[in-house]
Amino acid sequence: MKITKAVIPAAGLGTRVLPATKVMPKEMLPIVDKPAIQYIVEEAAASGITDILIITNRGKGFIEDHFDKAPVLEGILERDKRDDLLSTIKDLDKLANIHYIRQIDTLGLGHAISKAKSFVCGEPFAVLYGDDVVVGGDKPATKELIDAYGTYGKGVLGIKPVTKEAIRNYSSVKVDNIEGNIYKCTDMIEKPQTDEEVLSLYSILGRCVLPPEIFDILAHTKPGAKNEIQLTDAMRELAITEGMTAVEYTGTRYDIGNKFGIMQAAIEIGLNHPEIGTTLREYLKNFAKTL
Ligand code: UTP
Repeated sequence: MKITKAVIPAAGLGTRVLPATKVMPKEMLPIVDKPAIQYIVEEAAASGITDILIITNRGKGFIEDHFDKAPVLEGILERDKRDDLLSTIKDLDKLANIHYIRQIDTLGLGHAISKAKSFVCGEPFAVLYGDDVVVGGDKPATKELIDAYGTYGKGVLGIKPVTKEAIRNYSSVKVDNIEGNIYKCTDMIEKPQTDEEVLSLYSILGRCVLPPEIFDILAHTKPGAKNEIQLTDAMRELAITEGMTAVEYTGTRYDIGNKFGIMQAAIEIGLNHPEIGTTLREYLKNFAKTL
């Protein structure tokens, strides 16, 4: 079955980036000149997704406005013949059909995903975490996962290795290599706290493709780490009962939900930016001499 639907959970509180996220959703923080969520919606569209559900909550109206028309601004840019700028804002509403639903209570990522049940309507769907931006790679990361779903017919996790120190803040997955960057996943744990709990240094980072059966599992998933309903706990049940596939996607992932990730994304994406890349490279080289 062709996967054309995606869910972007963007209802988290963004406490790791306060005070910036007191009013501004972290998904709207800019990486050079585009809000993070635009990179994510563009990745979904480039992966063949036609319908996106963004899960929001209070104060996230900026996201809806960003993917809407801006008649006054567009009119002024048209009048002034600023086609270069106009083209950057004009067709954002055409990237995909974007739908919105509010997660009234912030009870965790698993709870947020459960809100997508009627949107998904019994089809397999992609999940792109609203604070994980992935750029570059052989194909868009979501497309790599969708292709693996087509080949292996099971839910797919987007994974990357993380350091031993970092794994406690992430999930850890038990994987066996199938071929190349494709693995079979039979178990996982969210935020392992002891060395014994660490299943591998591979972690689920920001992308997955799920079968609709996940909603029945989420309906009985109890709060786990951080006392939140964790998507990882529901996917663990799926991995144990049905099996899952994991793909080490080829793009570079930036966690814009933390301060360091925001800086990394700004610098690395900035270095490839056609307008400021060269200037930024020179600046960084000179500045590095003063460190
Ligand atoms: P995170 O745990 O990284 O987001 O969730 P957070 O809760 O905003 O993080 P803190 O406050 O800095 O620790 C991963 C993804 O799940 C979404 C977030 O928006 C993010 O995209 N999320 C998380 C929800 O949509 N709802 C929730 O209840 C929790």
